[in-house]
Amino acid sequence: MIHREFLRRATIRVLAAILLLVGSRTQAADPASSVTVLIAYHSVSGNTEKMAQGVAEGAKAVSGTKVIVKRVGDVATDDLLSSDAIIVGSPVYFGNMSGEVKTFFDNWLLKFAVFRDFKMRNKVGGAFATGASISNGKELTMLAILEAMLVNQMIIVGGGGAFGASATTGPDSPGIDEKELTAARELGKRVTEVAIMTKHGSPK
Ligand SMILES: Cc1cc2nc3c(=O)[nH]c(=O)nc-3n(C[C@H](O)[C@H](O)[C@H](O)COP(=O)(O)O)c2cc1C
Repeated sequence: MIHREFLRRATIRVLAAILLLVGSRTQAADPASSVTVLIAYHSVSGNTEKMAQGVAEGAKAVSGTKVIVKRVGDVATDDLLSSDAIIVGSPVYFGNMSGEVKTFFDNWLLKFAVFRDFKMRNKVGGAFATGASISNGKELTMLAILEAMLVNQMIIVGGGGAFGASATTGPDSPGIDEKELTAARELGKRVTEVAIMTKHGSPK
């Protein structure tokens, strides 16, 4: 009798262990827990491109994330529609986003037709910028990008800095330093985390 009870309990324990193992494996490889993040940028002298790479590293650090990095001019309608989150980067041109990035957003209506019916609604958005001077438009540029996303009924988030990640690239602080790259990675990670929350719910 005691022997039979022992066997019954041992069987239950083994079955429970198997179920736990199968459950954790399914979760780790579950494609449903992944998101697609599009990083779109404009860059002439490479600074904003370097920040885009940092943003991509941060997004990739979140397991299971699919990351697409493209220049704004190479983005196709399907890139926008298939993404759960979009992070847009621009150099500061006269205190605002560059013409290329503005044209990209204008094309959300004129070319991609995603503005109509709010096809970008509830996707997550973030911004990054590089500018030559410490205070000559980086925050305004990020806000302008976020404004365009708000008009499209996206959910906007910061990361790296309050409004996104930015870097100063002029003679006082040429290029992108490690601190600025860290901010870029933080932005990529935060936007991805929020995209996962909006798509799959927040972790318990
Ligand atoms: C047409 C033009 C206008 C610019 N206007 C500003 C500006 O208003 N404020 C600023 O801080 N930098 C300004 N810059 C500098 C760029 O924003 C800066 O060099 C940036 O890092 C360039 O990015 P990229 O290397 O990705 O092309 C301007 C550069 C250009 C070419």
